[in-house]
Amino acid sequence: MTGIKRRDWLRQTSLAAAAFGTIPLAGFRELEKSTNNRTKDDSVVRLLFNENPYGPSKNVLDRIDQVKARSHRYATFYEYDFLKLKSLIASQEGVEPENIALGHGSIQPLIWTAILYGGQGKEMLVPEPAFDVVGTYARKMGTTVKPVRVDANYRINLKAIEAQVTSSTDLVVLINPLNPTATSVPTEDLKAFCNNVSKTCPVCIDEAYVHYLGEDWPKRSMAQLIKDNPNIIVTRTFSKIFGMAGQRMGFIMGSKEFIQRIESDFMMGFPGNMPNSIGVAAAMAALEDRDFLNQSRARNGEMRQFVYNELNRIGWEYAASDANFVYFNTGDFAKFKSKMNANKILIAGGWPAMKDWGRVTIGNEKELETFFRVLKQ
Ligand SMILES: Cc1ncc(COP(=O)(O)O)c(C=O)c1O
Repeated sequence: MTGIKRRDWLRQTSLAAAAFGTIPLAGFRELEKSTNNRTKDDSVVRLLFNENPYGPSKNVLDRIDQVKARSHRYATFYEYDFLKLKSLIASQEGVEPENIALGHGSIQPLIWTAILYGGQGKEMLVPEPAFDVVGTYARKMGTTVKPVRVDANYRINLKAIEAQVTSSTDLVVLINPLNPTATSVPTEDLKAFCNNVSKTCPVCIDEAYVHYLGEDWPKRSMAQLIKDNPNIIVTRTFSKIFGMAGQRMGFIMGSKEFIQRIESDFMMGFPGNMPNSIGVAAAMAALEDRDFLNQSRARNGEMRQFVYNELNRIGWEYAASDANFVYFNTGDFAKFKSKMNANKILIAGGWPAMKDWGRVTIGNEKELETFFRVLKQ
């Protein structure tokens, strides 16, 4: 390995250390080929961040080509104005544009939520284990963050969380499907939970992976509660099924008052606080492209079955996945991770509550074949 390549590799590994669907198959292979041809660094297998290996869609790429020359302007007063993106999201979600604030990915709005509800003397309930942006940030602000362990099926334990809600609870954070376990809770249970708990405190539902639940995902989203319930907050991202992680586009939905507060406290009318102009135009193309969503979900389903088959063959325990990643018991995560990293495969795991479990992104066929070849060595 040359010095530079080695440095790059070390940088990748330390980044990793710091982080925490039907279309005929042949059609998808073509899609896969065209996307992978754009990847310069094929030697690293990235199964770490739950990105969509098939994205962005051709429509998104065409839109980017169409608008890139205008990126000297902020995302305003243009065909793909950020207000138009809000209107498009609103029409698809059954809410008003005033119920939506756009963010740089969903991490940014999740941090805003942590700032609004967290701080010294404040209390939050979060699932555990969880890739939990709100709780992680809130803890840094001195918030008392109480983790509530998942149930025996690795699902968010709604009953146990509800039992812990008191008048001192400032926020309950849910992630559905949950990262890292990839499990989801039944929609009716979740709705009942949100309706009950929101009488006491706000409930924030991070729906980064909701599109993987099935074509009926809009019925499974808690966005439907927002119109009538001021204590429900929902976040979404273009980073996952839309295949746009590098575009840094996401949004938060809540009552008009909540969104007004977000926009006045954190965006403050500064043009620089608008989302990136190419991202806005790309996000509009992504929302108009249902086929890509359905194809990505279908292909993810096929590759998820491949992961299950391989894990079943070697008898490793795993949680049934409702998302684009699988959580499984490695036996010794530190050892497993170093073997993977030594073979240039990036994966996640080691969350404190289940420290020997690992999380693998459901990548494409080639990536997963490499992963299992190394796993079995
Ligand atoms: C549950 C969950 N929420 C939020 C995010 C944040 O992603 P982004 O800021 O790209 O929207 C991630 C990314 O992995 C995630 O897994």
